[in-house]
Amino acid sequence: MTPPTVTANSLEHHWMPFSANKHFKQEPRLLTEGKGVYFKNHKGETLIDAVSGLFCSSAGHARQEIADAVQRQIMTLDYTPPFQYGQGLSFELARRVAAIAPGDLNYVFFGCSGSEAVESAMKIALQYHRVRGHGQRTRFVSRERAYHGVNFGGISLAGMVRNREMFGLTLPGVSHIRHTWREETRFVKGQAETGADLADDLQRHVELYGADNIAACIVEPIAGSTGVLVPPKGYLNRLREICTRHGILLVFDEVICGFGRTGKAFGGNSFGVTPDLMTMAKGITNGVIPMGAVAVSEAVYQAVVAAGPEKGIEFFHGYTYSAHPVACAAGLATLDIYEKEGLFERAAQMSPYFLDQVWTLKDHPLVVDLRGYGMLAGIDIKPAEKPGARGYELLQDLFKAGLMTRITNDTILLAPAFICEKSHIDEIVDKIRRVLDRHAKAGLRVVS
Ligand SMILES: Cc1ncc(COP(=O)(O)O)c(C=O)c1O
Repeated sequence: MTPPTVTANSLEHHWMPFSANKHFKQEPRLLTEGKGVYFKNHKGETLIDAVSGLFCSSAGHARQEIADAVQRQIMTLDYTPPFQYGQGLSFELARRVAAIAPGDLNYVFFGCSGSEAVESAMKIALQYHRVRGHGQRTRFVSRERAYHGVNFGGISLAGMVRNREMFGLTLPGVSHIRHTWREETRFVKGQAETGADLADDLQRHVELYGADNIAACIVEPIAGSTGVLVPPKGYLNRLREICTRHGILLVFDEVICGFGRTGKAFGGNSFGVTPDLMTMAKGITNGVIPMGAVAVSEAVYQAVVAAGPEKGIEFFHGYTYSAHPVACAAGLATLDIYEKEGLFERAAQMSPYFLDQVWTLKDHPLVVDLRGYGMLAGIDIKPAEKPGARGYELLQDLFKAGLMTRITNDTILLAPAFICEKSHIDEIVDKIRRVLDRHAKAGLRVVS
């Protein structure tokens, strides 16, 4: 394979998302190949993928079965208009997703990304209340430090300030309960014993705004992008109870947690709580083709669709690429791999080793907190003078050391593929330790 040229000119025109564009173009990090749990960069060097691409490629890169399914589908039926027409694969994929979803989340609406799944879930929640005569239920309760994608619904729900501060007022009627990180949860592996009462914030919002005005409460079971905040024991159950008591829909945003990341199909399965709606993306196609989806309960589907007009459109929403046949083919092949190789179970089995190895960093002078659950972990690094600056330096140094991962501010996020061996986990932790050692030795005070 010929590596692409990397001169500044040839990199000029792509405005990269969530990236330091100008600096990247001076010192690019280009990936040219991916196989299993490894990438290659444009210099031909090998890197271990510590975050499954971007929490997507849980079955590893370059899976032949998915490639074959995608190619077959392109040559059979490469596109179908999704409005008023269908194709068989989306129905089968919806059935398969419903089969592994918790509770009675039996109906699946497709989009192309996690962000679109969130917007779709918000609209479904609003219409659900409206058709039942509760059109005044328009408020959403979200959470501090939440990430729900980048469209306007999503950034209105967002609790990560930099994702919203440039974009004006966003949607009205969104309020935020507290996040679940506390001093006492520092270095707690898995779920903290205390903190379920933080869910009572929702009750306070009910008392402040009136339950009759609230459409839905939306949370990530584990808040991923902000740095892996694991819910305390009983917390999600308590949110569920409050929602049920007040007729508020509970939405779990499972874009990161879904498809085995927590050791079961979804976070809802792992934590024993069934939401009314559940968003997903990423792992649904192993990241190969963009796809997002919302699974909804019987009650929600019955209210919106079954009770709709006999021959008319029930829900005025959808995307040109909703249920794209090629994405569906990739999704079905991916679910086959998960099932045949028992990858969710493998994730559950590997999790204790993974977390134990991450926790060997506990006494490192630059590590100020560790959090993790399933095959997901966050490592908080002592910030330099300017928050996020050390994280950015680390991203580059880890890349040079042969490790690709995601860093939010000063938190290293880890989410290895479920096919990884213990030796891969050792390699990931070892590389992180070495790079941190170098930073500690240099006494780095990054200021720019
Ligand atoms: C919980 C959650 N929701 C939504 C999204 C947005 O997904 P996408 O980037 O596919 O739009 C993400 C992305 O990481 C996410 O973690």
